[in-house]
Amino acid sequence: MKTNSEQVFPEDFLWGGAIAANQAEGAYAEDGKGLSVVDVSPEGIMNGIKADSDEVNLYHEGIDFYHRYKEDIALFAEMGFKAFRTSIAWSRIFPKGDETEPNEKGLKFYDDLFDELLKYGIEPVITISHFESPFHLVKEYGGWKNRKMIEFFTRYCEVIFNRYKDKVKYWMGFNEINHAHTMPHIAAATKVEENENRLQVIYQASHHEFVASAIATKLCHEIIPDAKMGAMLSLSSVYPNTCHPDDVFETYELRRRTLFYSDVLLRGKYPNYIYRIWKEYHVNVEMEENDLELIENYTADYLGFSYYRTTTHKTGDPILENTGGVIGTPNPYLETTPWGWQIDPKGLRLVLNEVYDRYQKPLLIVENGLGMTDEVEDGEVNDDYRIEYLRSHIEEMKEAIKDGVDLMGYTYWGPIDIVSAGTGEMKKRYGFIHVDRDNDGNGTMERKRKKSFDWYKKVIQSNGEDLD
Ligand code: BG6
Repeated sequence: MKTNSEQVFPEDFLWGGAIAANQAEGAYAEDGKGLSVVDVSPEGIMNGIKADSDEVNLYHEGIDFYHRYKEDIALFAEMGFKAFRTSIAWSRIFPKGDETEPNEKGLKFYDDLFDELLKYGIEPVITISHFESPFHLVKEYGGWKNRKMIEFFTRYCEVIFNRYKDKVKYWMGFNEINHAHTMPHIAAATKVEENENRLQVIYQASHHEFVASAIATKLCHEIIPDAKMGAMLSLSSVYPNTCHPDDVFETYELRRRTLFYSDVLLRGKYPNYIYRIWKEYHVNVEMEENDLELIENYTADYLGFSYYRTTTHKTGDPILENTGGVIGTPNPYLETTPWGWQIDPKGLRLVLNEVYDRYQKPLLIVENGLGMTDEVEDGEVNDDYRIEYLRSHIEEMKEAIKDGVDLMGYTYWGPIDIVSAGTGEMKKRYGFIHVDRDNDGNGTMERKRKKSFDWYKKVIQSNGEDLD
């Protein structure tokens, strides 16, 4: 064991795990909860809203975290978690989204959940909107392309900040806000109609989310002066397919499509490059008088992000026209998961340096992990591949800290098996804790520690020093 002075990770490093309400809680219609956009996407967020579908919808019961959170949090505490990230399901608090009075039963649930975390000294890290806009707001108002969403979101924020001000000090606005580009129906709860200019809709919806984020930051600081409000982006990265300058420049443009979101949220200004794009694609973002001032004055305190993998880009692959999914040839230097995700620990160091160089604001890795089909053999799950994934990523985090990056913490994605966001299945598991439930919704929901459970516990205990 190294002495404190030799340790790379700061003493107060937030080791932990992360989930989202919609992928874990279940109880989708209990205690007054309304439907969210994910509740009507049985095949996952990549595959769109299917409101009238009678397909198996695993989100509806999730892993029953709503009723079993005490048991689950006890297991997180056993691993030594310092932080736990989850989201508040907006439609538990405002079932339709446009009410003026919140649903007390929904509020009470999160009171109890946060108390349970705090009982073990686990810091709640809360996403305000993790793909969970109330479905009613899409049907009735068209989602975030409608400016009225700012009003509904502000009311929701005011209610939760006031209610949880003594319990929650780490907040984040919209999960993977940059996915407004690839999944506007979920990330921006906005349907692009056939006769609409797709980019117009996306940038308009994003503008409303920027203003809403700024208002949320303002309110958060006023109501909870010792709290921090972060932005949250998907920062899985992209490399040029070759060193041809065209590939390199287009890859830069594609990366900028992503970083545009953190440029606005952390620097407080629309970057110069966006005006050319708007002109060329006939985008005219409507703004009100104070919008730019709000965006400038209330920037995010830190950048939270997810990082899973890297992809490649070659000249001519769509950039702004990309309507979702991964395009690009596989990188021959990297291993690939059964879901086609390429594992790239060094890419994490690169991203940490990239965004720290760009913003000089604290970073928080709020999602990173390995989704696999785990087999239970003789009652055990020997997930050495997950341990290897973690080890290699933590090693690169260490290098990034040595590079000078200010990293606040690491919340591993899906420390307990949950429903996959991308495909709505149970088979893609990330957990250190196995949950007995299959893709058809069968199973006892029993929880079981995997091999990685003790490994991660040891990592936390040694503050990231013992990675053997
Ligand atoms: C992120 C989302 O995009 O990726 C999570 O914020 C999601 O909600 C995670 O679960 C992993 O994706 P998937 O499809 O493997 O669940």
